[in-house]
Amino acid sequence: MSDRSATASAPVAIEVREVRKSFPVQAERLTTLKERLVKPSAWLRQEAEKLEALREISFDVNRGEFFGVIGRNGCGKSTLLKLLASIYSLDGGSIRVAGRLAPFIELGVGFNHELTARDNVLLNGVMMGLSPAEARARYDVVIDFAELHEYTNLKLKNYSSGMQVRLAFALMMQADADILLVDEVLAVGDVAFQEKCIDSLERMKRSGGTIVLVTHDMGAIQSHCDRAMMIEHGEVEAIGDPAVVSARYLQLVFAPEEEMEAAPLDTGPERGAEFTAAWLTDGEEARVEAVSAGEPVMVNLTVRAHGDIPRLQALLELVNNPEGVVIARFPIGYGGEIPPISAGEELTMRVSLDASGLRPGSYRFHYHLGTADRLYDRSSEPLALRITGADPGESLVDLSHRIEIEGGPPEGDEG
Ligand SMILES: Nc1ncnc2c1ncn2[C@@H]1O[C@H](COP(=O)(O)OP(=O)(O)O)[C@@H](O)[C@H]1O
Ligand SMILES: [Mg+2]
Repeated sequence: MSDRSATASAPVAIEVREVRKSFPVQAERLTTLKERLVKPSAWLRQEAEKLEALREISFDVNRGEFFGVIGRNGCGKSTLLKLLASIYSLDGGSIRVAGRLAPFIELGVGFNHELTARDNVLLNGVMMGLSPAEARARYDVVIDFAELHEYTNLKLKNYSSGMQVRLAFALMMQADADILLVDEVLAVGDVAFQEKCIDSLERMKRSGGTIVLVTHDMGAIQSHCDRAMMIEHGEVEAIGDPAVVSARYLQLVFAPEEEMEAAPLDTGPERGAEFTAAWLTDGEEARVEAVSAGEPVMVNLTVRAHGDIPRLQALLELVNNPEGVVIARFPIGYGGEIPPISAGEELTMRVSLDASGLRPGSYRFHYHLGTADRLYDRSSEPLALRITGADPGESLVDLSHRIEIEGGPPEGDEG
């Protein structure tokens, strides 16, 4: 029932109609205790025979559009890109793609890990049908962009994932494609390189290219995308204005659950106090949005009082992105450490964190302001923090711990 065809002159670059995709669920897929604890819903779903990754998705991407795709983990974003790139076959519906498409979806695909970066890039050029001279010219551009001059003779198996991202992205930009599909693999690279990638995507768009970008970075969605689409449980939840769609996403991911949230928000003219500024700084007190794993980071919150408040309280929450799991809460002023504040006064609270326990990845801080029984204000936009560094490990945080077992045979009794 599926239909895939290309037309050269349509204003629509990608047309998706009623696309469905399911995966068989294997009973033994989740076997360890850790997996059951980490993914209880997936474990429960073992009962079902198949997992509906995309239920019935329809949308268009126009030619020349920078189109953002967002949604929580497991909502079906990567599945959608793989369907667009013909990596997966459709269960139903149709996809039409007008133009040459280059995917940047999974790391390592298309590379030979036993070969050096140099040979991989040259081989890739030859496979694209380039002459040796053309392949050589492209090679220089690719290595320049990737800034990997010192590592061209290193076998790819010895490349870090960040280096592979650089190489793969640089290669994709040289593929002469009309449409780029970019999954969030970019997040593996460092912040400076991510910005460089976004810049080159912008350039590609200005020269008439079409970009479909999957990201959890709502800042990128709002500053670069013409339109955004949010997927939730395999369906289109929202599509259109990036500001509206990303607000919907934040609303969903950061759904209120904290007891302070339960208090009605006091936003009337006699609101007691409000946040006037929130920012992150590093060990040198310079403003940052990202720090390397292991470096200190400080959350600064400035508050202005509109009335006299003897005992102000604030609550800072650290949320893992994109899962939206609250991994730490920092109550401020619960022990009376905020001095009484009078109308018109401002004060700044600083929470210094030793982020050495945080895995590389993206995080957000939410903050709330109130008293024991009132909620005056809360973060309208969370503060984003990126921890850069090597590959994320298995857990969200790296808590030092010790395991002790009691019982069993007495000492010396080794039969
Ligand atoms: N190859 C696969 N086999 C089985 N299940 C898959 C496969 N790929 C994705 N899934 C499942 O489909 C759902 C959507 O996954 P995915 O598209 O990767 O989500 P996202 O990229 O939005 O995080 C998830 O529940 C995931 O476990
Ligand atoms: Mg994905």
